[in-house]
Amino acid sequence: MAGKLPAVPSFPPGFRFGAATAAYQIEGAVHEDGRADSIWDTFCRIPGAIANGDTGNVACDHYHRWEQDLELMVQLGLESYRFSISWPRVQPDGAGPLNPAGVRFYRRLIEGLLDRGIEPIATLYHWDLPQALQDAGGWAARETAERFAQYAQHMARELGDLVGTWITHNEPWVVAFIGHVQGRFAPGIRDWPTALAVAHHLLLSHGLAVEALPGKVGITLNVNPAHPAGSGDEEAARVWDGHLNRWFLDPVLRGSYPEDLLALYEERVGPLAVVRDGDLETISRPIDFLGVNYYFVARVRADPEAQPLGVSQVPGSGALTAMGWEVDPDGLYELLVRLRDDYGPIPIAITENGAAYDDPAPTNGLVPDPERLAYLQGHIEAVARAIDAGVDVRRYLAWSLLDNFEWNSGYSKRFGIVHVDYETQRRTLKRSGAWYRDLIARTQDARLRA
Ligand code: FCB
Repeated sequence: MAGKLPAVPSFPPGFRFGAATAAYQIEGAVHEDGRADSIWDTFCRIPGAIANGDTGNVACDHYHRWEQDLELMVQLGLESYRFSISWPRVQPDGAGPLNPAGVRFYRRLIEGLLDRGIEPIATLYHWDLPQALQDAGGWAARETAERFAQYAQHMARELGDLVGTWITHNEPWVVAFIGHVQGRFAPGIRDWPTALAVAHHLLLSHGLAVEALPGKVGITLNVNPAHPAGSGDEEAARVWDGHLNRWFLDPVLRGSYPEDLLALYEERVGPLAVVRDGDLETISRPIDFLGVNYYFVARVRADPEAQPLGVSQVPGSGALTAMGWEVDPDGLYELLVRLRDDYGPIPIAITENGAAYDDPAPTNGLVPDPERLAYLQGHIEAVARAIDAGVDVRRYLAWSLLDNFEWNSGYSKRFGIVHVDYETQRRTLKRSGAWYRDLIARTQDARLRA
C-alpha cells in the first residue's frame, strides 16, 4: 500500500523505549515513613473535587510493591523508566532537613533500575507541592522557586551519582492554568493574575534547577498543535498556541516571552510584575533535551465570552479515548516537525503518550485492549516518521506503566499498559503491553547497533 509503513518501523541507534509514572499517582503510603501532605492530599479531601471521592492514599501501593514493579518492567523489556520524586516524601516541609527514609526509597528504586539495565529518568516535580509551601503562598510566591532550587540541589547531592537524566517540571501549563484558573486540579484556585505569577515562578524554578543538577537535564511540556475549529478561527488558534505552547517554549528555548501573548495578558490581565531583570536569562539556561507529552490536537474557536483569551476549545470529532480526547497520531508528527522548524535541532524525548479506555477486567490473565494497542502503534509510527524527516527524537515513554490515580478522574480512567486490580493490587499485562514488549524486542537489534 502506498505510503504505508512497514509493520515494524525502525529507530536509530541509541533510541530507547520505556514507560512513565508519577509519584502521587502510584505510590500510596501517603502518611508513612515521614511523608507529609502535598497539595494533592489536601485537594482530595475537598468534597466533589475527585471522581468517586478517590484519593492517592493507597493508589497502586507502589511504595511497598516497587520490587515487583521492577520485575514487571523487566518482563516488558523496558529500557527507560520515568518516575517522579515526591517532594513531600524527601523533604516534608519543602524546606529544611531531608527525610532519610524518603531518600532511601528512591535510592533503592534507582539502584534496582540500574541493576536491571533500565535507565532512570527522574522528574523533580509532578504536581505534588508540599502543603507547607502552599500555606506559605505556593507557586504564586517567588520564594517557592528558591525552595525548589534547594530541593534540586539536595537531590543532585543524594541521587546524582545514580541518575543521569533529570526532568525539572512536568507540564507547567497544567499546574498554572488547570490548578490556578480552572481550579480542577490542586490547589484549586481560580484567578488569572495568580496563574500567570505561578507560570513565571515555575519557569524560574526550572532555570534555577538546571544550574543545580548534574547529568542531562530537560523540562517536560504538554505541547499540542492548535488547529482552527472552523474557517475564521485561525487567529483563535494562534492565541491558543501562544497561551499553551509558546508561553513556555519561548522563554526556555529563546529567552523571551512571546510578544503577542505578552501584550494580550498585559492588556487584559494586568502587568506581569513578577518578571524581574535576569529572570529570562535564568529560565533559558541551556538544557540537554525537551520532554514532550502528547495526547491530542487542540481544536480552537473564537469565543469572545471566554476572557481573557477570547478563545475556547471544541470537542474533537472522530475516534475519542475515554477521556474524550481525539485520537490523532498525525498531530504528533506535525508537532515534532514544528518544534524542530521553530526551535532548532534540540533533542526530544516523548516523555508521555498513551490513552485511557474502559478496559474489561482480566479474564484468564488476559486484558484485550485493541484501541490502546492501535493508539500506541499509530503514535510510535508517527515518531518514526518524524525521525525519518530529520527530527532528533531519542526516547518514547508510554503513559503509563500502570493503571493509576488519574488526578480529578480518580481511578475511573485507566491509562496503563498493565492492568491494576485496586482490590487485590494484582497487576496483569494488557494486550497492548504485550505488543509493546514485542515491539521493543523486535526493534532492539537495530537500535543497539552503535
Ligand atoms: C498528563 C500528566 C500525567 C497523566 C496524563 C494522562 O497531563 O502529566 O500525570 O495524568 O496526563
